[in-house]
Amino acid sequence: MTALDLSSPVAVVGTGTMGQGIAQVALVAGHPVRLYDAAPGRARDAADAIGARLDRLVEKERLTAADRDAARARLKPAEALAELADCALVVEAVLERLDVKQELFRALEDVVGDDCLLATNTSSLSVTAIGGALRVPGRFVGLHFFNPAPLLPLVEVVSGFATDAAAATRAYETARAWGKTPVACADTPGFIVNRVARPFYAEAFAVYEDRGADPATIDAVLRESGGFRMGAFELTDLIGQDVNESVTHSVWEAFFQDVRFTPSLAQRRLVESGRLGRKSGQGWYDYRDGAERPEPHTAEPAEAPAYVVAVGDLGPAGELIAMIREAGIEVREEAEDHGTRLVLPGGGELVLADGQTTAEYQDVVSFDLALDYRRATRIALAASPDTAPRTLAEATGLFQALGKKVSVIGDVPGMIVARTVARIVDLAVEAVAKGVAGEEDVDTAMRLGVNYPLGPLEWSRRLGRRWAYSVLEDLHLRDPGGRYAPSLALHRHAHTSDQREGSTS
Ligand SMILES: NC(=O)c1ccc[n+]([C@@H]2O[C@H](COP(=O)([O-])OP(=O)(O)OC[C@H]3O[C@@H](n4cnc5c(N)ncnc54)[C@H](O)[C@@H]3O)[C@@H](O)[C@H]2O)c1
Repeated sequence: MTALDLSSPVAVVGTGTMGQGIAQVALVAGHPVRLYDAAPGRARDAADAIGARLDRLVEKERLTAADRDAARARLKPAEALAELADCALVVEAVLERLDVKQELFRALEDVVGDDCLLATNTSSLSVTAIGGALRVPGRFVGLHFFNPAPLLPLVEVVSGFATDAAAATRAYETARAWGKTPVACADTPGFIVNRVARPFYAEAFAVYEDRGADPATIDAVLRESGGFRMGAFELTDLIGQDVNESVTHSVWEAFFQDVRFTPSLAQRRLVESGRLGRKSGQGWYDYRDGAERPEPHTAEPAEAPAYVVAVGDLGPAGELIAMIREAGIEVREEAEDHGTRLVLPGGGELVLADGQTTAEYQDVVSFDLALDYRRATRIALAASPDTAPRTLAEATGLFQALGKKVSVIGDVPGMIVARTVARIVDLAVEAVAKGVAGEEDVDTAMRLGVNYPLGPLEWSRRLGRRWAYSVLEDLHLRDPGGRYAPSLALHRHAHTSDQREGSTS
């Protein structure tokens, strides 16, 4: 099954933000494109707006003037649905309401041929439910583009319960021919990206609600230690708190209120107060004229310890041992007895964040997970009220000697990056196990859809297959409401080797 022929007309119905972007993609790829919108005049305005964007591409020398002129000649606003009769593909990008979309597709079926591929760009409704009303539901797929569609490469190609494999393949190949990176996925709440990404926001909000740290510090740790492009607070301010909350809410509802997807009360209050983010001038941060951006907590300089005792290999933080030596600090190595850790000269200990609190130990400071300890520019530390001040000072001085800024946060189990990554890995592993998508597609979707520095499955391989499970197991013991309960899939993942998981015996 191949991509649609470039001579086949493509229609885009609903010519707002997404419709215009999708139409531009199909047009530049070479198709004749029809635009239809229920609001009078809007399709024509959209054609003008797309034309203006093509002009800018010519100015930036990304499109030749001849190609622009040819594209403009292929683009036609339609006054009525009937004008879409000869289209080979219709992509719908109208209001996010099931009844509106169902009604539209029923009307479209009366107009187009039975072999016309019908696609929805819904981000949160069930593709199966939208297609359920159709006479020929097998030709109905989800084609979930990301905003801005001309720039972002990812397209989730969603197969509903009734979607024919041939229709899904044709949609997939067509998206690829349009220069996109398609991933195939089943019709489940949030598809891949909006499902697996939920903990990125939820854990940041939870740390804030538990008074673990302020938004600026959490964002800085996610960026500078976790390697995420943006922190959860600044990102949701950009997306819009109302938009982000509504996705969370719809995924939670669609999973029959699964506690793992519970929305955040702090975010609810923000939305209720009208602080929707950049678009309203205030969100987690203040964007009004003259407002100052709060600084993340950064510890004052402290003296580096003369030596550390490394007990065991530090697991995912193993690189630190070489880095400490390179910084001129002596490392005395001892075989692991009960858990890997760094013992400081004052007798206190430094441990990699797991799902426990430091208060459960004697005189311990925990440090957060980093994507790459060499590249990280900031490390979060947590201490309990019982931790000796000297231990925290030595731990701070140690990371500062490695060139890191240090943020001291509250004693929240799993700290910031560790709990976030553990939960993302869990949802990704579970999505693969439930057949939502393959490992590679899940990783691609998270890297391209939300800019994660690593796909979650790849991240899990680097951390060790048991790592996420053991963090969540500990978190679940301390917070047994179910939010951190590791999935059965993660249990299996943790207790299977890479080789065995791939085998069928
Ligand atoms: N905005 C995003 O970031 C984004 C990303 C991915 C998917 N989506 C999905 O794309 C769809 C459109 O979102 P948007 O942000 O472009 O919305 P939008 O409000 O910018 O545009 C919607 C357009 O649809 C038109 N419309 C409404 N009902 C119609 C009907 N029955 N027939 C024809 N036209 C109709 C409206 O007049 C409007 O022009 C939604 O399903 C949304 O969930 C949005």
